[in-house]
This record gives sequence, structure tokens and C-alpha cells, in this order.
Amino acid sequence: MSFRSLPPIAIYFVLLMSAYSPLAWCMRDKVQSVHQHGDLRALYINTLKKSVTGILLETQSYQPAASAKESQLRVVPFQREKRINGEDWPVQGLSMVGLKRLDNLETLFNHIEALKIPGDLIECGVWRGGASLFMRGLLKAHGVTDRTVHLVDSFDGLPKNSTGADDDGWSEMEVLKVPLEAVQGAFERYELLDRQVHFHKGYFRDSLPAFRQFFTGRIALLRMDGDMYESTTDILYNLVDLLSPGACIVVDDWEIPVCQRAMKDFFATHSLEPTIHHIDTTAVYFCLEDPVKLNMGWYDSFNAKRVT
Ligand SMILES: C[S@@+](CC[C@H](N)C(=O)[O-])C[C@H]1O[C@@H](n2cnc3c(N)ncnc32)[C@H](O)[C@@H]1O
Repeated sequence: MSFRSLPPIAIYFVLLMSAYSPLAWCMRDKVQSVHQHGDLRALYINTLKKSVTGILLETQSYQPAASAKESQLRVVPFQREKRINGEDWPVQGLSMVGLKRLDNLETLFNHIEALKIPGDLIECGVWRGGASLFMRGLLKAHGVTDRTVHLVDSFDGLPKNSTGADDDGWSEMEVLKVPLEAVQGAFERYELLDRQVHFHKGYFRDSLPAFRQFFTGRIALLRMDGDMYESTTDILYNLVDLLSPGACIVVDDWEIPVCQRAMKDFFATHSLEPTIHHIDTTAVYFCLEDPVKLNMGWYDSFNAKRVT
């Protein structure tokens, strides 16, 4: 007898039984739980963004100094637009990069995951650690266990100008000096301090060559946030040849003239013409399909002129 030839009441009974069968219930629970997990993951990630930027508690801002030399920063009330665009520095909050740059970081993370671009995530210039902490949160939220987040910083502010390309103003800014223990403490409070987070302390010109000595992996995502010509240059000449094909680089300080000049000098020296994508009013990113062979001759002469 075919299903169609059953009387309507029997069909209703069969459908009812199958809807309430243990298998149907089990499937429904699974679909619901996947759905809920997706919702909870998005909620966690969004809450993390708002928390590290200080948007959650609408914390006050330091008005970034007009000149790098200015060491007295003015405290002003919370301004949502500025915080979204990363145009102020939160008095309380773990990152100054703003919401749009964290949204972009999530997009790039999803991109390297979707394309299975191998390698770790690294931030050079971490301040209170918020953007790096967010990257560790992304790994956690997506159950990614084969990538590590590296934080590279002096944990003592910016260096004095050692090459003649910058001025000394940045090194005088006390608010940019955040000790390693304070950053680790923040990771601990967020329950994100574990073996998938590595800290590398020292000025880039010392810590990055040391990093290269022990690091045997690749880099899938690089965040550059060192403000100065020399910091930007030190990052590029120590890390770009460690990138996986297709890896992406975020340049937080593109709108700082010396930083942009350092980037363009590097592009010119290596005949690179990457497509630059603007994230907000300050930051950009680009991805590199092909490996780059570093012109170490250029970097050697740059280093030779350095005063310590
Ligand atoms: C603008 S803050 C970084 C902001 C951070 N990414 C965030 O999420 O808020 C710049 C950081 O870069 C670090 N830095 C800049 N140049 C450096 C260098 N040459 N060596 C080590 N650290 C450096 C400073 O210590 C400071 O923590």
C-alpha cells in the first residue's frame, strides 16, 4: 500500500508520530543548539569589542595630543562617534583602535579561517593589549587551537628617535607606557591568558630579531601599530618574509605621515603595489599573495645609521 492511499487520519497519525519521535526531537535540539551557540558567539564577540574599547561603560577619553611632544592630555567626556572611529584614547578601556578596526579584525580573521591561510596572529604595538586580547577572544570563540596570538611591545612606551626619521615626542608620553604585568593581568581577568598567547618584550629593533630566532611558524595576520617611521620599518623588515601567502597586514597608523612614508618606502624598495583598503579615517589593510624577499641591504644601512 502506498503512502498516498492511506486514509487522511492515518497520514496525520504517521506525521505526528515522526515529529515526536526521539530522532526528530534530537535533530530539533541540535539545530536549536547550533543556532543558540552561533548567537552566543556573536554576542560574546560583540561584547568583547565594546568592553575593550570602553564603549560598554562609555568611559571618558584622552584627547590625543596635537603634537607628539605634548605630554599633558586633556580628559573629555565619552563621544561615541570618536570611539567607534578610534579617534580618541579611552581613559578606561584596553584599546584605542575603536570599534570599526575591531570589526575589520574580525572580518580578516574570518577571511584567513575561511581560506585556511596558515599561521599565527601578531600585533606589534599593543599598549594595554585590547586588540590582541580581542584576537585571542576570536580564537576562543571559534574553538581555534592551532593559532597563537603574539604581543610585541616594549611595555614601556615608544623609543627615542634613533634614526633621524622621527622626533622624540612619542617617547615622552607616559600614557603610552603600559607594563607587561598590566597587560597580562587584563588577559587573566578576561580568562584568556594561556598557551595560545605569547609576549615579546623590548624595542622592536631588538625583540623582533629575537622573535625570528625561535619562531618556526608562519604569520597569517599582522597588526602594525607602532606610530613611528622606525617602528614601522623594524616591523616590516623583521616580519614580512614570515607571512603566509595571502596573509593580511593592518597598518593602524596609515594617516601618520612618517608611518605612511615608511610603508611607501618599503613598497618602493620591494616593488610592491598592494591594493590598500581603508578601514576608517586612520587605518588601512592589504593582503599579500606572493612571498616577499626582503632587501636586507637597505635595512642594514638603515641600522648602520642608528644612534643608540
Ligand atoms: C598606539 S599604541 C598601540 C595601541 C594598541 N594597538 C591598542 O589596541 O590600543 C603604540 C604602542 O606601540 C609601542 N611601540 C611603538 N614603537 C615601539 C618600538 N619601536 N618598540 C616597542 N614598542 C613600540 C608602544 O609601547 C605602545 O604600546
